[in-house]
Amino acid sequence: MTMGKDFWEIRSKEPDRVTILDTTLRDGEQSPGVSLTGAEKLEIAQQLARLGVDVIEAGFPASSAGELAAVQRIAETVGRGQGHAQRGGRLEPPGIAGLSRANRHDIDKTWEGVRAAKCPRIHIVLPTSDIHLKYKLEKTRAQVLQIARDMVSYARSLCDDVEFSAEDSTRTDRDYLFEVLDAVVDAGARTLNIPDTVGYAMPAEYGDLIRVLCERYAARGDVVISGHCHDDLGVATANTLAAIANGARQVEVTINGIGERAGNACLLETVMALHTRKPFYGLETGIDRHEIGPTSRLVSTLTGMALQANKAITGANAFAHESGIHQDGILKNRSTYEIMEASELGLDQTGLVLGKHSGRNAFRAKLRELGFAMEDGELNRAFVRFKDMADSQKSVSEAEIRAICEMMESER
Ligand code: KIV
Ligand code: ZN
Repeated sequence: MTMGKDFWEIRSKEPDRVTILDTTLRDGEQSPGVSLTGAEKLEIAQQLARLGVDVIEAGFPASSAGELAAVQRIAETVGRGQGHAQRGGRLEPPGIAGLSRANRHDIDKTWEGVRAAKCPRIHIVLPTSDIHLKYKLEKTRAQVLQIARDMVSYARSLCDDVEFSAEDSTRTDRDYLFEVLDAVVDAGARTLNIPDTVGYAMPAEYGDLIRVLCERYAARGDVVISGHCHDDLGVATANTLAAIANGARQVEVTINGIGERAGNACLLETVMALHTRKPFYGLETGIDRHEIGPTSRLVSTLTGMALQANKAITGANAFAHESGIHQDGILKNRSTYEIMEASELGLDQTGLVLGKHSGRNAFRAKLRELGFAMEDGELNRAFVRFKDMADSQKSVSEAEIRAICEMMESER
C-alpha cells in the first residue's frame, strides 16, 4: 500500500506557501550533549503540531529500537491529528518524516516508523561530494549514482512521498550533483533537499545553486527544491532565506537553531523574517506565531540547551531596551525600536531594563508600573539615587527601585 498523496494534493494548490520541515527531533537532537526520551520527543512533536509545522522529521528510525518506537508513537498520534485542534484550511495533521541512509534495511525501518501517519515520508540521505565518496563511502561516482536510483525506487515502492538529500551538496561537483538529482527524480523523489552539510556556502552562492535547480525542474511541476543549512559560519538562516528567495519551497529548520556542531538554521528566525518582510518575499507559512514563545521555551527546557540572551526573536534581550534614547522611543511608540510584536509571539519579555544608560522617562514609567507616584522634584532626586546605583552594577532590579522609592517616601 502506498500513502502520502494528500500532502502533495494540498501543497500543489499553494505555490506561494513555503513548507516548513522541522528537524528539531532529528538534526536538532544531534546537538552534542542532547538526548531526548521517547516521551520528550512526543511532547515536542505535539507542540510542533500546535506551532503549525508542515512536516515533522521525527527521527532516524534505523539508529536504535528506542528511536524507532519514538517515531512510531509520533506517527500514530501526532501524525494522525491526535491531541491538537484543526488548523483552519491547513494541512492537517503534519506529515511525519524519518531519515534513512540509502540502504534497504534503513528504508524498511523508516517505513516501519512513519507508515501509521496520514502523510508519511521517507527521507533518504546519500553523500555526493568527492570528499565524502572517497573518505566515507569509499565508492565511485558511478556506484553512488546507481545506489541513489535504486534506493529511491525501492522507497517509492513503499511510500508516495520520498525526499532525497544529496549530502554535502554545496561541496559537490555541480554536473555530478545534477546527474544524481536527475536520476532520483526519474526514480520518483518529489523533494530534492540540498544540504549545506558543513555550513560552507555563502548566501549568494547557495541562492544561485537553488535558483539553477529550481529552473532545471520547473517544467515538471511536482518537484520541490528544499534548503537545509548549517551554521558553521553563522549564516544558516541567511542561506535559508536566500534559498527561499531563489525558489526553494521547502526549508528544513530547527527550533532555536539547535543541531550538529554550530546548529541548523533557526525556524523562528526564518519564519519571522518571511512574516516581517512579507512585501519582500510575498510568501506564507502555516506557522501560528502565538506558539513561537512556548515552543522555544519547551525545546530549551527539554534539551537543556539554554538560549543565549541576544538570540533573535526569543532570547531574553530580544525585546529588552536599556538605553535612554531607545526607552524614550519605546515609551512613545514601540515601532520606533521594535519590528515585531512580542505579545503576538507568546513572549513576555517586553520590559525596559533599567541600567546606567536609562533615561528619566523610562524611570518614571517604571515607577508608575510599580505603583509609586512622585512629583517632579522628588522624582529627580530618586533618579539621581538610581543613577548612582546603576553606575556600579549591570542593571537595577525592580526590588532595588522599590527600595529607593520607599526610602524617598520615608524621608517625606
Ligand atoms: O546536514 C545534512 O546533510 C543532513 C542530511 C541528513 C539532510 O542533515
Ligand atoms: Zn543537517
